[in-house]
Amino acid sequence: MKLSIGVDIGGTNTCVGAVTTDGLVLTRIQFRTDDYENGIVYADRLAEAVREVMQASAENTSPEWSGLGIGAPNGNYLTGSIEEPPNLRFKGITPLVSLLKERLDLPQIRLTNDANAAAIGEKIFGAAKDYSDFIMITLGTGLGSGIFVNNQLVYGHDGFAGELGHISVIPDGRYCGFGRRGSLENYCSATGIRRTYFEMIAQRGGHTSLDHKPLGEITAKDIADAADQGDPIAQATMDFTGRLLGEALASTALITSPAAFFLFGGPVQAGEILLGPTRRSFEKHLIPPFKNKIKIIESALPMGDAAIIGAAALVAS
Ligand code: BGC
Ligand code: NA
Repeated sequence: MKLSIGVDIGGTNTCVGAVTTDGLVLTRIQFRTDDYENGIVYADRLAEAVREVMQASAENTSPEWSGLGIGAPNGNYLTGSIEEPPNLRFKGITPLVSLLKERLDLPQIRLTNDANAAAIGEKIFGAAKDYSDFIMITLGTGLGSGIFVNNQLVYGHDGFAGELGHISVIPDGRYCGFGRRGSLENYCSATGIRRTYFEMIAQRGGHTSLDHKPLGEITAKDIADAADQGDPIAQATMDFTGRLLGEALASTALITSPAAFFLFGGPVQAGEILLGPTRRSFEKHLIPPFKNKIKIIESALPMGDAAIIGAAALVAS
């Protein structure tokens, strides 16, 4: 049976899975990314996890491994390195592909940006199958994007095209991990949504439906659910998030003229609570030639697996 290994590197966890050519994750294991502040020690652990997944898969099938694909924040497909990630503890440049080639014997090892991997997953296995021009937006610890134009993922001159999380939306706004201010990711990622909610509580005071939870444990999904159940501060948070996101997407649409944006991540599972205000603000901010033509669609990829299956697809043939 032909299998690839897909890896999703997140700020908190790294997930490694054995993936079929149909995009099904058979075996998976995870370990904490944030235990590592050194890229080389991290590469040792990742190589070990890959071996574990390969061994576990060999217990049930006789796999023929086509390779290893990785989706990482600040991952550069052209260099195979993770470059200056604001949301990972290992800083600087980690040449992950070459470190793994020294540690593993596999036909091919490739790395791309995590949101690019999700975009590839959406295109091959998800809701973007019939779209040649679309933009995938992932809302997690950070905000990522993957841009397809003419059926091809756009990498650009230096391999970093589509870092939409870092476009500036609020002059002199919140600081980000790069020390810059007002970027989209500080407001519309899952982290940004939590920040907005906490700020609004601090400003407005009073009780909220999430009072029973310690602040540190409140997730963006909790806030979306609370909004769904009528919590006014949570509703104001989702509304603010959607309005900003819609406006940013309207500006982004001008660059590539996509047929659709696909939104992925915990906050998106809240559906219309976030997508409603996003769509309204999007249409409002589009210039006339673009109006009523571009869809905003929820990703069809399974929550934990999007970047794993997309990354695995990088090396599937
Ligand atoms: C990183 C991107 C990444 C996104 C989502 C951003 O902070 O710079 O490369 O795609 O977070 O993880
Ligand atoms: Na990207």
